Amino acid sequence: MMEKILVGYATKYGSTQEVASFIADVFREPGGNVDLQELRDVRSLDGYRAVVMGAPFYMFKWMKDARQFLSRHQEALSGIPVAVFALGPTEEFKSEEDRHQTYAQLDKALVEFPWLKPVDQALFGGKFDPANLKFPISLFMGKMAPSDLRDWDQIRAWAEDVRGRI
Ligand SMILES: Cc1cc2nc3c(=O)[nH]c(=O)nc-3n(C[C@H](O)[C@H](O)[C@H](O)COP(=O)(O)O)c2cc1C
Repeated sequence: MMEKILVGYATKYGSTQEVASFIADVFREPGGNVDLQELRDVRSLDGYRAVVMGAPFYMFKWMKDARQFLSRHQEALSGIPVAVFALGPTEEFKSEEDRHQTYAQLDKALVEFPWLKPVDQALFGGKFDPANLKFPISLFMGKMAPSDLRDWDQIRAWAEDVRGRI
């Protein structure tokens, strides 16, 4: 029972769910017992020996479900290894400053949780599909080009590295 690992995610449009599912599969390769669950549905962390959690950025904020998950489960998460990932950039960086600001998003989000000492943290490229946008955001971003900057080799390398350390 104590050998289980939780891969938890928050998502609006599904791209973070796909990344979380991919990471869970990488964790299962050596035969690990891994649950994949939406963060908002997690009631208890009893029985988990480690957690990998991920959520996208929206309007410079880490999705609320991720922040609520950390607050709600602070006590349990303080006692087990936790690895954190985020999805964000959906277009190539315009400058070094742009890159720096984008990567700083996750550091800034984690400042809210000084008790959390992640085994590792990563920011991956995200996916943008204007066809999926809901009103009223579709008015502003509906004409933008679709993109998918998720780098599956990078995500696999990260998952394999974390798998060896938690
Ligand atoms: C309305 C909107 C706002 C976004 N804001 C940000 C942002 O502030 N920072 C960022 O890095 N990415 C931002 N993104 C990109 C998303 O994080 C990216 O599309 C991600 O893959 C979405 O994840 P999901 O499909 O799991 O919901 C935004 C995307 C949309 C549609």
